[in-house]
Amino acid sequence: MERECEKSVVAVVTEPRFTQRYRDYLEKQKLLDRLHRAEKLRDGTVALPVLAGTLSEQHLQELRNRVAPGSTCTLTQLLDPLPSKKALVCSPAQRLCLEVRRWVEGRGVTWSAELEADLPRSWQRHGDLMLLSEDCFQATQWKSLEPELWETVASALGVQRLARRGRVLPDGARTPSVTLLLGDHGWVEHMDNGIRYEFDITRCMFSFGNITEKLRVASLACAGEVLVDLYAGIGYFTIPFLVHAGAAFVHACEWNPHAVVALRKNLEINGVADRCQIHFGDNRKLKLSNTADRVNLGLIPSSEEGWPIACQVLRKDVGGILHIHQNVESFSGKNPQPPRSSNTEKEHWPHPQKIADKRGNGTTGNVRGEVVSSVSKPEWQRWAESAETQITSLLHQVHGRVWRTRILHVHPVKSYAPHVDHIVLDLECRPVL
Ligand SMILES: C[S@@+](CC[C@H](N)C(=O)[O-])C[C@H]1O[C@@H](n2cnc3c(N)ncnc32)[C@H](O)[C@@H]1O
Repeated sequence: MERECEKSVVAVVTEPRFTQRYRDYLEKQKLLDRLHRAEKLRDGTVALPVLAGTLSEQHLQELRNRVAPGSTCTLTQLLDPLPSKKALVCSPAQRLCLEVRRWVEGRGVTWSAELEADLPRSWQRHGDLMLLSEDCFQATQWKSLEPELWETVASALGVQRLARRGRVLPDGARTPSVTLLLGDHGWVEHMDNGIRYEFDITRCMFSFGNITEKLRVASLACAGEVLVDLYAGIGYFTIPFLVHAGAAFVHACEWNPHAVVALRKNLEINGVADRCQIHFGDNRKLKLSNTADRVNLGLIPSSEEGWPIACQVLRKDVGGILHIHQNVESFSGKNPQPPRSSNTEKEHWPHPQKIADKRGNGTTGNVRGEVVSSVSKPEWQRWAESAETQITSLLHQVHGRVWRTRILHVHPVKSYAPHVDHIVLDLECRPVL
């Protein structure tokens, strides 16, 4: 019943020769429904859609007597009204505003600037689920319109399910406080660089911004290597390492049970489950050592708590490479600069493809064929040098001998917040034999 009402609009009907005068009047009175097209009816009259609940008997009399004397003026209901040209060309935000407004007014609630300002300004599509930004639908008037309101919002955005983002909880698992508004589950699917990920958006974190790093990881040459991913999540890096970079085996550590369910599923659907062991629990208690050619430490704002275990799992005989993620504050200017030693052209970031593809043009390859960054900020370099010093000392403590370390690469992943960059340091660590 409810849905049938939503698929019809009220329209004023008159003869074709009076249509333009009617339209001018309705527009001036802000009664015209601009989302739907006027329709010619079988008897030759024209129906002009109007905003539901706005037209009074007085308006009808004015149309008949003053605006177009001699016209017949009746009301009708148009079932399955056609969208107007405006509705077809307006932006999703405009369409959302128009449709929510029409629906809200149809329920006798007065539209206000406060309600309009409270509509979502941004959203993320995850298949048939739209994730709304956290600062929308806060006004108390919305409460009385729930849960039907969510159907209108979902239909305006062209999806079946809706969720609203909260802040990522500072609980170590980086649990997103996402609330499902419409739909019966939060599982979504993503294809990234040929890899399929499935996860419950209300229980596991997903960052579109990390795609640059996923692509870079996928392009690394890791054939035959054993890797430890200390913060595996749903497999954002574990799976590209296995599928594209050719890693022989990955030990994937994760303590969020919901993420582990998704990780297991994603390893299966991408056909690499037999080359991965999941270590469920706190990675700082990991019973693994002298194993890894490479360790991924994908935790922000900092993975520092994982540095001792990263040193412990590195191979004693030849060492390996650490990929250390960190959020770094910088106030030195808008754009990163090429390092002083490099003669590269200036680049602005994020430019993931450029950075990844620039080998031989502003970037240098190291002995293992990895790409060295052409852009940096002084704060990134300072942080990288301090991390290198700490890791060198940790390696000495853990393995009881001297190690040589080298900064291969400081690479931007995304701008996390104003003046805060999420970066990755690639650090080569070799025992001095
Ligand atoms: C930022 S998410 C991982 C996301 C992925 N690396 C990325 O950047 O897209 C960090 C993951 O590490 C897990 N985690 C954090 N601390 C951990 C610990 N001490 N042991 C195991 N897992 C941990 C969290 O549950 C979360 O799934």
